[in-house]
Amino acid sequence: MGRYAGAVSEQVQRTLVLVKPDGVARGVTGEVLRRVESKGYRVIALELRRATPDLLAHHYAEHQGKPFYQPLVDFMLSGPLVALVAEGHRVIEGFRSLAGATDPTAAAPGTVRGDLGRDWGSAVQQNIVHGSDSPESAAREIGLWFPAL
Ligand code: RTP
Ligand code: MG
Repeated sequence: MGRYAGAVSEQVQRTLVLVKPDGVARGVTGEVLRRVESKGYRVIALELRRATPDLLAHHYAEHQGKPFYQPLVDFMLSGPLVALVAEGHRVIEGFRSLAGATDPTAAAPGTVRGDLGRDWGSAVQQNIVHGSDSPESAAREIGLWFPAL
C-alpha cells in the first residue's frame, strides 16, 4: 500500500502506436521511437507498411459518419506509416501522455505532437502519431494491425 492503489497496475500492458504518414514523410519516426524507448517501454513489434481502406474502416470505426472521417482516412492512406506495439506497465496511458493532445497546435511542448506537429491547413489534423486510448481499444487495434501477436 502507500501507492495510488487505483491507478497502479501490476499487469503489463500493450498499446498500438502508429507513426502516421506525416510523421514518416517528415522523417521523425526515429524521434518517436527514441521517446518510446527512452521512457522505458519495450518495442515488441514494428513494421513499415501502408494502411488499406478496410483496415482503417475497422481502426477508426468509432469516427465513421463524422465530418472529418473521410479526410482522416484519405490522410492515413496518403503514404507509408510505421505500426508498432509497445509494452510496459500503464503503457496505454503513458504513450497517450507522450503523444499529447490531438490538436498539434494546442498540444503541450514536450509532447510528440507539441514538439513535432503543427497545423498545415489541411482538412484533418495531421498529428504525427496514434496511440490506443484504452485497454479495449489496444486489444482491438493490435488484433487488426498485428494479428499474429
Ligand atoms: P488518434 O486516434 O489518431 O491517435 O487521435 P486521438 O485519439 O488523439 O483523436 P481521436 O478523437 O481518436 O480522433 C482521430 C483523429 O481524427 C481527427 N480528429 N479531428 N476536427 C476534430 O474535431 C477532430 N477530432 C478528431 C484527428 O486527426 C485525430 O487524430
Ligand atoms: Mg483515437
